[in-house]
Amino acid sequence: MTQLKKYVKNKKEVEIVSQFRKNYVKEYVNFLIKKGNIKQGKVIVDIPCGTGDMAKAITEKVNVEKFVVIDINKNMVKSAKEKIINNVLAIVGDAGDIGNLIDFKVDTIICLNGFHQYINRKEDFLRGCEKILNKKGRLIFDISTRGLDDEYTRKFFQSQRKEIMSLSKEYNITTQFPTWPNDSILKNYRKMIFDSGLKLLDENEFTTFKTVSQILSDAITIPGRSRPWIPGLNYKKRKDIIKKSIEKTTEKLGKHKIEYNRIFFILEKTN
Ligand SMILES: C[S@@+](CC[C@H](N)C(=O)[O-])C[C@H]1O[C@@H](n2cnc3c(N)ncnc32)[C@H](O)[C@@H]1O
Repeated sequence: MTQLKKYVKNKKEVEIVSQFRKNYVKEYVNFLIKKGNIKQGKVIVDIPCGTGDMAKAITEKVNVEKFVVIDINKNMVKSAKEKIINNVLAIVGDAGDIGNLIDFKVDTIICLNGFHQYINRKEDFLRGCEKILNKKGRLIFDISTRGLDDEYTRKFFQSQRKEIMSLSKEYNITTQFPTWPNDSILKNYRKMIFDSGLKLLDENEFTTFKTVSQILSDAITIPGRSRPWIPGLNYKKRKDIIKKSIEKTTEKLGKHKIEYNRIFFILEKTN
């Protein structure tokens, strides 16, 4: 599990992430406004807000009463605060503490690209959201995973993980390559939701296919992404290991498309 304050280290890296996120923001902003019931005069929270690009896109479309941006990384919070001009409250903090970081009621909480990989205290986070949401308030979080319905993709990542471990051995480091959520992890998340008291209204899955070379680009474009996977090595060495792990994997399994899944969980506070 990666809990990452140094996802980005400085403004330059924030900008790289911002560029990379552009398509995601464009693709899902209207979906989030609709499913999150985001309307004029409402109070919205984005946690972890990252660069603040989604918050900016939402506030450009809806005149909300207040927008709260929270992230554990102060560089991200600073970036997000600068992007939203009006009615923004910026907080540096751990998502597990959300129930104490905010002492007023909110209408919608969005948690994008964070729940699975970055939030360690998931139960605290869900219970905290339940505590601060208004009645009928919504929490939306998404889970990005690979190969839910494609065996080649699952084998690809199993093999790549092994190759990364073996290639890293010469540097004497322990790798922390991410586990992509499978059916059993997703089942556990549904149980956590149930236990939190929030009601799961809907799950919306979006599936796309990428080429093997996109896997390399995805892994290394964001500087902070591979940093915790292969800790202690510089960018060039990390890139080299990831590239070789992919080559060795495709030698073994052949080159096919990789299945990417994104599932949005739409939750509501019912009482
Ligand atoms: C993949 S980014 C997602 C950011 C944004 N939601 C997006 O979609 O671009 C992950 C973010 O989680 C933040 N983060 C990591 N651990 C955290 C934690 N425990 N609490 C709050 N934020 C955290 C990182 O600083 C980083 O900005």
